[in-house]
Amino acid sequence: MEKKNIDFASLGFGYTQTDLRYVSNFKNGAWDEGGLTADANITMTECACVLQYAQTCFEGMKAYTTEDGRIVCFRPDMNAARMADSCRRLVMPVFPEDRFVDAVKQTVAANAAWVPPYGSGASLYIRPFMFGSDAILGVKPATEFQFRVFATPVGPYFKGGVRPLSLRVSDFDRAAPRGTGHVKAGLNYAMSLYAITDAHAQGYDENVYLDPETRTYLEETGGANLIFVKGNTLVTPKSDSILPSITRRSLVYVAKEHLGMDVEERPVALAELKDFDECGLCGTAAVISPVASIDDHGDKITFAGFGPALQKIYNTLTGIQMGRIEPPKGWIVEIC
Ligand code: PLP
Ligand code: COI
Repeated sequence: MEKKNIDFASLGFGYTQTDLRYVSNFKNGAWDEGGLTADANITMTECACVLQYAQTCFEGMKAYTTEDGRIVCFRPDMNAARMADSCRRLVMPVFPEDRFVDAVKQTVAANAAWVPPYGSGASLYIRPFMFGSDAILGVKPATEFQFRVFATPVGPYFKGGVRPLSLRVSDFDRAAPRGTGHVKAGLNYAMSLYAITDAHAQGYDENVYLDPETRTYLEETGGANLIFVKGNTLVTPKSDSILPSITRRSLVYVAKEHLGMDVEERPVALAELKDFDECGLCGTAAVISPVASIDDHGDKITFAGFGPALQKIYNTLTGIQMGRIEPPKGWIVEIC
């Protein structure tokens, strides 16, 4: 199959419209059969629940070209399960998990010409999402919904490619105690826009959010979970208000089972930051991005960037994703 004539290696993390996307509509209590469409636009009432009350959630995942030329997707069943959790929390109908995985496969296969080649450093980002589409004025959930999946080729999430990042501890929160931080609700990201704009204006790449209840524990950044290394131990924050990252859960397994590291998933106090050797961000978009420093109101804590442990974890995880290392059962789903 002929690839699209674009310079995959110089892509940043942005939207390029591709050929086909998947759409299914929920009406009268049921999802329709769904299917692919060339139409990238959505028309809906001005009073749609998503526009008035932000009733929407999404997922983010990637497809890769492996070393031997197959197109594969990483753990789509985990995204299906997390989207089901998001829907239940936001009073939206679950799109059945098997149909979610099938919709992802159909979307990737239909856009195979857009999947960046092996070795380009780019991948196909897949964005499943759902929103309440009928007119809702009093505050209550919609009764009609649309589920869509689009795909777009992307490069590194942070400008300038993989480089050590400079973060700051944010004075804003991205989630509320007992709120929606643990699901992938669009509203969490709306909450973070002011803080990320301000962080960029001050010269930082991202915000580190603290636990919204006591503001003494580390949570995550606007688009990724945090990981730390101390000696042979991988430490990652545990909290009810952070997104359960599929990348984080995967690399915890890799650190334990492939690399023989100790792993601690536990509340991590802000005061502990200075004790860690290495720090990284992990997520679908971020993969593993090394952190150079975290600025806590003028107290700047520095890390090794890509130190030896994070580099090993990165190499193993991306090796599995790109087909160079035998994956744990069920992690790699072949598309074509
Ligand atoms: N945390 C937030 C707030 C995110 O938006 C993401 C991205 O999806 C992650 C963490 C990482 O999750 P995952 O590894 O499942 O992509
Ligand atoms: C992802 O990593 O998939 C994300 O959703 C992060 C960001 C682009 C929102």
